[in-house]
Amino acid sequence: EGSDTPPANKWSFSGPFGKFDRGALQRGLKVYKEVCASCHGLSYIAFRNLAEPGGPGYSVAQAAAFASEYKVKEGPNDAGDMFERAGRPADYFPSPFPNEQAARAANGGAAPPDLSLITKARSYKRGFPWFIFDFFTQYQEQGPDYVAAVLQGFEDKVPEGVTIPEGSYYNKYFPGHAIKMPKPLSDGQVTYDDGSPTTVAQYSKDVTTFLMWTAEPHMEARKRLGFQVFVFLIIFAGLMYFTKKKVWAASH
Ligand code: HEM
Repeated sequence: EGSDTPPANKWSFSGPFGKFDRGALQRGLKVYKEVCASCHGLSYIAFRNLAEPGGPGYSVAQAAAFASEYKVKEGPNDAGDMFERAGRPADYFPSPFPNEQAARAANGGAAPPDLSLITKARSYKRGFPWFIFDFFTQYQEQGPDYVAAVLQGFEDKVPEGVTIPEGSYYNKYFPGHAIKMPKPLSDGQVTYDDGSPTTVAQYSKDVTTFLMWTAEPHMEARKRLGFQVFVFLIIFAGLMYFTKKKVWAASH
């Protein structure tokens, strides 16, 4: 029963001034495309989003070229038929299965969840005393820490006393330990052209960073505005203080 607590990571996007690491977003997109996309959809993200500020930093032309590598279903045409065409920037990432039944049938009964919002949808509770700390700081990185941990949590050696049913795999961090996702990543699987290590640890962090962006593509703008609001409030509080002193001054 239960599961191990995911280790905390140093994420570039954490904290009030956090930003996404562009390199990690681009590498994470590559990992999603080459590995995760065969089972998991990303249905809230359109190709055009890849060229928006605060994201992976591609140009509009690059996003269009990326989209054109995909086949997208369209139709019906005048003859009443569905047809396939090359993807365009306005298209959303195509999902790997036509419906949930097909997704379940291909994965031993468990449908691979859409990954668009997974870093916000998954969390974990830290044990005593850390949950007290989390309560006061609203620790925001549980989702990404959990996702990164699950990707690295597969082990061949099942600990004594744990039984894993046929068609499930042992994972240290998945609640209950028996997950129906086969170990998706191994060292050297995805090539990187920026010299970053091609290890499971690096892939996991990169794809998790990418999935944090897909879950909150406007995070950088939100944090910038939040900071500006604080600056405004501090200046405004000062102005109000001197206004109050003047208005309520004893007359002489
Ligand atoms: C579940 C991520 C690749 C099949 C999950 C979950 C995450 C995830 C975060 C949710 C775990 C939870 O519910 O707490 C990823 C990422 C991948 C990847 C980032 C690429 C690096 C794959 C591949 C397959 C797959 C290639 C199919 C061969 C599944 C299935 C589940 C799942 C069937 C549901 C497991 C269950 O509920 O027991 N995945 N996945 N995943 N994934 Fe993946």
